[in-house]
Formats: sequence, structure tokens, C-alpha cells
Amino acid sequence: MEEVLIITGGSKGIGSGIIAAYLSNGVKVFSISRTINAELSKAGVTQIALDLTQIDKIEAELIGTFSLLDKNEISKVTLINNAGALGRIGPLYKLDAVTIEKTIQLNTTVPFVLSSLFINYFKDWKSKKSIINITSGAALKPYFGWSVYCSSKAAINMLTQTIAVEQADVENGVKALAIAPGVVNTDMQAEIRRSNKGDFKDIERFISLKKDGALNDTVTVGRKIYEMDHDDSLQSGSILRVESN
Ligand SMILES: NC(=O)c1ccc[n+]([C@@H]2O[C@H](COP(=O)([O-])OP(=O)(O)OC[C@H]3O[C@@H](n4cnc5c(N)ncnc54)[C@H](OP(=O)(O)O)[C@@H]3O)[C@@H](O)[C@H]2O)c1
Repeated sequence: MEEVLIITGGSKGIGSGIIAAYLSNGVKVFSISRTINAELSKAGVTQIALDLTQIDKIEAELIGTFSLLDKNEISKVTLINNAGALGRIGPLYKLDAVTIEKTIQLNTTVPFVLSSLFINYFKDWKSKKSIINITSGAALKPYFGWSVYCSSKAAINMLTQTIAVEQADVENGVKALAIAPGVVNTDMQAEIRRSNKGDFKDIERFISLKKDGALNDTVTVGRKIYEMDHDDSLQSGSILRVESN
């Protein structure tokens, strides 16, 4: 019997840290992102190159991936909705319609679509099943300049909670968790530090966190997310946070 992880945005950042943790525990990994990471290929990760904002292509790719799995050989299957973006940083009146739409698609619509396909495809499987939505503290706290990001992450917290309610009475239902990774040393943080005070009022705090070496590292975050996924004491529907190193 083997375990399987299907993750979005595994090519770099937090996704690559999550993949490292699952690989080191012998899990078979499938990753969907726009670019292919050669190191991950060498490590045996099956990578699917797809821009997830092309919503009409998702179903075929995902079902194609699911169909590679053997019902009788899988003890646990996990979907991690990790790919996400800030979109344009700045007050709402400065944002254009296309950026708003694409950011909400990636951060919110894609986790909805993938979770729907996942729950439906595996409904009769005897394996353990979990969905982890990578959320943010920004889902719970409004930041000046992050209206779309905060709102799109708030939506996946509620997605997590509603999946938990819908699956509660299902025999061998899907467990759903939302996990905020803390402030992590990735390209997304570099993008935040490259913004300006007019567009993002809290920029100095994020510059200081980097200067003070206070950012979480991707490998530690990945390990903690793996542990949470395997912690039976965590209730489905929980909104969790990775504590600092
Ligand atoms: N870093 C933090 O401090 C922090 C804090 C709270 C929450 N988070 C959340 O953690 C998650 C990962 O963030 P990160 O910091 O690791 O960001 P990152 O370094 O920018 O990585 C983002 C990942 O998403 C993929 N991705 C982006 N757009 C995509 C698209 N259109 N289609 C397919 N894949 C796409 C990227 O791969 P490609 O470029 O190859 O497509 C990459 O693998 C996000 O959901 C983010 O909101 C991060």
C-alpha cells in the first residue's frame, strides 16, 4: 500500500518544502504548476505543467492524474491546494479587472474546482482522504493593499469548513484542513518587500522580519504540514497555523 500527494504549486517555495517532507516519508507525489522543476523530476515527482487559471483544462488533467492510481494500492490520498498569488498589491481602486479575476481564480476558484473533483472521484475509495487548503493569516485580518488576497484566502477558509460539514456524515469522508504557513521565506515575500508604502502600508514590518531572520523556512513548514496531515487529533474543518520556528 502506498500514500499519494497531489499538490498545486510544487515547483518552488512552500510547495517544494511540502514535497520534500512527503518524499522523505515515502509518499508518491504529483505536482501541478506552470513550470517544471528538474530537481523534483530527478527525485521522482510526477509534474504536470499547467497554468491553473485555465480553468477549462483542469478537469481533464486532474482526472488523467487520478486515473494513474490503483484503488487497491492506495492507503491515503491527500490534495494540497497550495498554488497562490498576491496579484497586484495596492488599494482596490488601483486594481484592474483582469488581475482581480485571475487572482481570485488561482487562490479561490481553483481550490473549489480541485476539491470538488477530488471528493467526487474518490468517494467510493477505502483510502484515507484529506484536503489541505494553504491559507494565510490575511484571511482573518484585513491588510491595506491586499483586498483580493485577503478575501480570496477568507473564501478558502470557509470552503474548508463547508467541506467538513458536508463530509461529516459520509462514510470514510474527506477530512479538510486549512493551514496558514506563517511568514515564509519565498518569492512571494520578496514580492511583498518590493512593493511600496503607498500601496502596502505594512511593508516595513515585512522588511524587518526578513532582516531579523524571523521568516519560516520552507523545509520546516513542509514538515509541519506533513505532520498536521497525519495528526488524527485535528478536527476536520479546522483553521490552523504553522507556528514560527
Ligand atoms: N510565503 C508566505 O509568507 C505565505 C504566507 C501565507 C500564505 N502563503 C501561501 O502559501 C502558498 C504558496 O506560496 P509561496 O510563498 O510558496 O509562493 P511562491 O514562492 O510564489 O510559489 C507559488 C507556487 O504557485 C505556483 N503557481 C503560481 N501561479 C500559478 C498558476 N497560474 N498555475 C499553476 N501554478 C501556479 C508557482 O509555480 P509556477 O510559477 O511554476 O507556476 C509556485 O510553485 C500560497 O497559497 C500563498 O498564498 C504564503
